[in-house]
Amino acid sequence: MSTISPLIAGNWKMNGLTHSLDELAELARLLTTGEAPRALVVVCPPATLLAAVAAQGASSGIIAGGQDCHAEPSGAHTGDISASMLADAGAQYVIVGHSERRTDHGESSDTVREKAEAAIGAGLKPIICVGETEAQRNAGDAESVVAGQLATSIPDAAGQHEVIVAYEPIWAIGTGRTPTLDEIGQMHDTIRARLVDRFGLSKGESIRILYGGSLKPQNAREILGVANVNGGLVGGASLLAKDFYTIISGV
Ligand code: PGA
Repeated sequence: MSTISPLIAGNWKMNGLTHSLDELAELARLLTTGEAPRALVVVCPPATLLAAVAAQGASSGIIAGGQDCHAEPSGAHTGDISASMLADAGAQYVIVGHSERRTDHGESSDTVREKAEAAIGAGLKPIICVGETEAQRNAGDAESVVAGQLATSIPDAAGQHEVIVAYEPIWAIGTGRTPTLDEIGQMHDTIRARLVDRFGLSKGESIRILYGGSLKPQNAREILGVANVNGGLVGGASLLAKDFYTIISGV
């Protein structure tokens, strides 16, 4: 049993209008009236709701996070958001390198590392995402692909600062399909070994490795119980307070 306290992060993606704060209020109610959760709870709404989520979540222990940040601290980058802007709005975490960013915006692992460095520089904890495509898994390349992403996406600064790794097989995101528990365990063990190799035993064993990809109330308890799974990154099921709460309380 891991000694790392678990973390469950909800990624709302491009979903959420002002009325979604009602769902956050319901999550806060569930978290404060039920048994105290073991997990740290992070909600990453769209940037338009970040300050509201940070303010509204504080009293119930819900921590706000961004979904992406620019690698530069400021400047002529229309439409982008810097890490310090996220921090200024109340975020403590930021997702970087989500596969939807890597695919939709052509972000390389070098870019992801620069974003993670910017996040650390602004006092945020980056949640650095890695994961293979279905073709890569079928070709037997999942572990080498993820190892390559880890090596390039995680900055050296992770040795002195808190970072979180999220393993998200791309073919499991939003599809209702997940790897088997054995496959998840094997990948998380591999990631752990890479982190220990690079950062040493004590640091390497203290970095949370989240699983993400079709985590649901129905499968969360068993997936989150796998060795070296230190929490989850939840997309669709984080949009409904009841489902998200069930996942949180399953850890
Ligand atoms: P999903 O998304 O839970 O909807 O599969 C996970 C993610 O993309 O972070």
